[in-house]
Amino acid sequence: MILELIDKLEKQHQLTREEWIRLIAGRDEESTAYLFEKARYWQHKYFGNQVYSRGLIEFTNYCKNDCYYCGIRRSNRKAERYRLTKEQILECCKTGYTLGFRTFVLQGGEDGWFTQEKLEDIVSSIKECYPDCALTLSIGERSFESYKRLFEAGADRYLLRHETAENNHYRKLHPPELSPENRKQCLRNLKEIGYQTGTGFMVGSPGQTPEQLAEDMMFIHELQPHMVGIGPFVPHHETPFAKEKGGTVELTLFMIGLLRLMQPKLLLPSTTALGTIDPLGREKGIRAGANVVMPNLSPTTVRKKYELYDNKICTGDEAAECRMCLNRRMEGIGYELVTDRGDYPDYNKNK
Ligand code: 5AD
Ligand code: FES
Repeated sequence: MILELIDKLEKQHQLTREEWIRLIAGRDEESTAYLFEKARYWQHKYFGNQVYSRGLIEFTNYCKNDCYYCGIRRSNRKAERYRLTKEQILECCKTGYTLGFRTFVLQGGEDGWFTQEKLEDIVSSIKECYPDCALTLSIGERSFESYKRLFEAGADRYLLRHETAENNHYRKLHPPELSPENRKQCLRNLKEIGYQTGTGFMVGSPGQTPEQLAEDMMFIHELQPHMVGIGPFVPHHETPFAKEKGGTVELTLFMIGLLRLMQPKLLLPSTTALGTIDPLGREKGIRAGANVVMPNLSPTTVRKKYELYDNKICTGDEAAECRMCLNRRMEGIGYELVTDRGDYPDYNKNK
């Protein structure tokens, strides 16, 4: 029964809501093994044994938002706030370039100090220095106009997880000033402008059910993003969700496998959160169908401060150490970390 649903997903790249729920709620060891085998087949067909890497630069942990799950929410007075200067950001890129990164991800809280002008200046400076690299932004919800100008300044990609596609669940995870409708509209705008667009969700966030995960899959199917980042929810001790249970490795891996079958060419990161709750989490993610890793390039002095959740890994390691570590980890499971922009297959660059 469950295996038939996996076969159907592989052939049609889509299921009905009821089928998604049945598949997610009915998963067991046998169906999981079956799914991962198929996921690896498609992963190998489009990407061989290559794993792409992106150098993550966490350039500010100031944030005007107050999401209930996040360690850098504005109400967390204990968070030590920092901002990197443009020079520091460029220095991270320089280190990253030498280490073989050809994609940089600028990620930060929604921090008004970085005005549109400042952001455009940073984006164009990075693209001037590293024209052969892709630049990804991950700086939250902005207007269509702002996204457009950042794209014109040179940004190639944008990551904005939808977090959960089901509206009532979204409202349980966020304060009233944040709306699921706006979140989804931002994602549609990003795609329309021409960004390679990444969305994603947390697995096992408080109150999440298979019904909601089904909504996530259906939303992603409709959006057809280029990348989907998913990771387990991990509680942070200074948030309203401090005492909630975290997401599991098992369900996160299952969802990765489903995403690979639903959209075989998807860029799918094996996330730091997965590596945080299991020492071999990132390897397991790749073996479930993921094909991207996103190690940190932020200066070690600020690493610990970008604490979205407890016990985040790699906060004491230099960029070079993470690169070597991931090289070793990927080789250990028969994959190769490549020096490549790692664009979406057949992506038609309209700029
Ligand atoms: N656990 C897991 N992931 C988290 N994120 C934020 N807080 C947490 C947490 N406590 C994720 C969100 C966000 C991304 C940058 O990090 O999905 O989009
Ligand atoms: Fe950072 Fe292993 S990836 S130490």
